[in-house]
Amino acid sequence: MAFLLRLAAFAALGLSAVEARAVVAHYMLYRLDPNTDHARRDVREALAVGFDGFAMNMGTPGANWSTSAIDQLFAAAKGTNFGLFFSFDTAQHKILADHFAVLEQYRDHPNYMRAGPDNFPIVSSYGGYANTSDWAHFKSTSDIYLIPNLDDTRPGGGDTGPYYTSPAEQLSQYNDIVDGYFSWESAWPQSIHGPENISSAGDQAVMNFARSTSKSYMMGLSALQYKNLFGDSWYRVGEVNLPQRMGQILEMKPEFTEFMTWNDGGESHYIGNMWPEAYANDLPEILLYANTEQWPHYGWQPLVTSFIKAYKAGVPASQMEPPKGKQAVGALWYRGMLKTCTEKVPRNIDAAVDSVNYAIVLPKRPSKGLQVRVSSGGRVLSTVRANPGLNYGAVPGMRVGRQVLELLDRHGKVLMSATSPSDVTNATECNFNFNVVGLEKERRWH
Ligand SMILES: *[C@@H]1O[C@H](CO)[C@@H](O)[C@H](O)[C@H]1NC(C)=O
Ligand SMILES: *[C@@H]1O[C@H](CO)[C@@H](O)[C@H](O)[C@H]1NC(C)=O
Ligand SMILES: *[C@@H]1O[C@H](CO)[C@@H](O)[C@H](O)[C@H]1NC(C)=O
Ligand SMILES: *[C@@H]1O[C@H](CO)[C@@H](O)[C@H](O)[C@H]1NC(C)=O
Repeated sequence: MAFLLRLAAFAALGLSAVEARAVVAHYMLYRLDPNTDHARRDVREALAVGFDGFAMNMGTPGANWSTSAIDQLFAAAKGTNFGLFFSFDTAQHKILADHFAVLEQYRDHPNYMRAGPDNFPIVSSYGGYANTSDWAHFKSTSDIYLIPNLDDTRPGGGDTGPYYTSPAEQLSQYNDIVDGYFSWESAWPQSIHGPENISSAGDQAVMNFARSTSKSYMMGLSALQYKNLFGDSWYRVGEVNLPQRMGQILEMKPEFTEFMTWNDGGESHYIGNMWPEAYANDLPEILLYANTEQWPHYGWQPLVTSFIKAYKAGVPASQMEPPKGKQAVGALWYRGMLKTCTEKVPRNIDAAVDSVNYAIVLPKRPSKGLQVRVSSGGRVLSTVRANPGLNYGAVPGMRVGRQVLELLDRHGKVLMSATSPSDVTNATECNFNFNVVGLEKERRWH
């Protein structure tokens, strides 16, 4: 299906409409201090990664701080080709009228992201709100490109609910209402059956249905889900979910990809900044297990840059390439303690593996004989050949102590490496957020 995505911002810059796959990052609207450059840094850094825009998660439509954050993001995006659209958080706030009232204020902004043959403002959602008549009402009274999230977030729904197993039955009632479907839950395995890797079967079923009715499809891409908040704690895999999911998206070629997330510390899947005016003021308990000083996730960004380029080029993971000017990019990630921890034990702990995880992207024709070596607690756990494109692994047997990822030349010399900034311990308190460390060059090579 040829699908035309037009970004208003491109038109504003005098560029022609682009026929492209778009990648946005889910952005939690939260308190942003207008006396800082925080909104500008978020937009600039997201642009540098290669994102086309932010899907702004709005959970409290009309709140002062929310409107202020939206204003700051639009001001930050002005003059760039960065797009912004709303993702109505229907888990927090189900009254669509309130969300639409905010949309009306911003829909004509030159940086409001648009799509489809009519070049309408994009509206998406989170939280599975599936009230057909309510969506139908707003779709018929507002010119929007509607790509809601309708999957079932209730326990037992997850990525194997009827939305994924019998989409025709579940979704036909939306034929005249939506322009596309966005699936949230399928970005991680449910992780209730022990160690489990991500499957794209549910996405494939929904995307097939979407295509059969000329709708677009948006897939979610995320590294993990770990939450320890409001008296509940859970873990969803995790380990090598990020590179495996990249491979699936590159194979399936949906029209949109939403990276989850830019800044959600609460669920530990942030890849950008977590600003203190939001977290320190409003949800300080999150900072105990997720903050960008102790657990920065920036090290994943170059992998996402490489993914975005491959996605737009329509090539598989084996043809991912390092971003321009880099010989290779990669990251090491690991939990700070073994899963024998006994306090604050998350639900689904059985799904976790004590593994040292990595991904490395090499060019089309890498030097001969490159190898990836993973060491843990002073012992080499694995040495494998490195291939062109995306390499990754979840190497079991993580030990207490230092964690090291190395790219070796054929003589065993270290070309690049990533070393744990803090050792793995056998601490009793669980924290399933990952330490993420980018691969750094040690020497030049050919
Ligand atoms: C919220 O809005 C009101 C009315 O516009 C204003 O007086 C107040 O200072 C705002 N509060 C914050 C925290 O921005
Ligand atoms: C759907 O939304 C409409 C309009 O807000 C409301 O009147 C109705 O009760 C809702 N239906 C369900 C099943 O929640
Ligand atoms: C998940 O994938 C990793 C990496 O390919 C592999 O090592 C592991 O065995 C897989 N786990 C399961 C449960 O299939
Ligand atoms: C684990 O912790 C205990 C208590 O602090 C310590 O005695 C033990 O040596 C640790 N084990 C390892 C493998 O570091």
